[in-house]
Amino acid sequence: MPNDDPTAYKPITWNPIFEMGHSAIDDDHRSLIEKTNTLLEMIAVDSGIESGRIISLVQVMREECYQHFASEEQVMKTLSFAGVNEHVKEHRRVEEVIDGFLDRLRELPEWGTEFREHVLAFRMCLLDHMLRYDLKYKSHFMNEAGY
Ligand SMILES: [Fe+2]
Ligand SMILES: [Fe+2]
Repeated sequence: MPNDDPTAYKPITWNPIFEMGHSAIDDDHRSLIEKTNTLLEMIAVDSGIESGRIISLVQVMREECYQHFASEEQVMKTLSFAGVNEHVKEHRRVEEVIDGFLDRLRELPEWGTEFREHVLAFRMCLLDHMLRYDLKYKSHFMNEAGY
């Protein structure tokens, strides 16, 4: 396997600590994590994978991310989260990363190490946003929900 780090392909198990206290946002995050795990399963095999199948899944995840970011921003505004502007900027940055990543996947002539490395970088970017950056508004949401 080209990536020697065994944890790179490890599926992410949903943990209650990931919950933001807002069911629609939690559902979006769960769905994106499930799809990320499917993506990891697909790239963990050494051969016989069609790059087109992976690109299709990443395309679906891209649409989901865009929709999720828009609804998350709406919720942040509704709940008067002070860090909304900074978070919106971060969403735009992640969207650029995702679009650039998809472009690079489409340009690659065939499935191989480079393709796999791009997929792992995409996974890293998504998880970093959902499991670290999004947690910044968790306490605010919890307060608003009366926890
Ligand atoms: Fe999010
Ligand atoms: Fe976010």
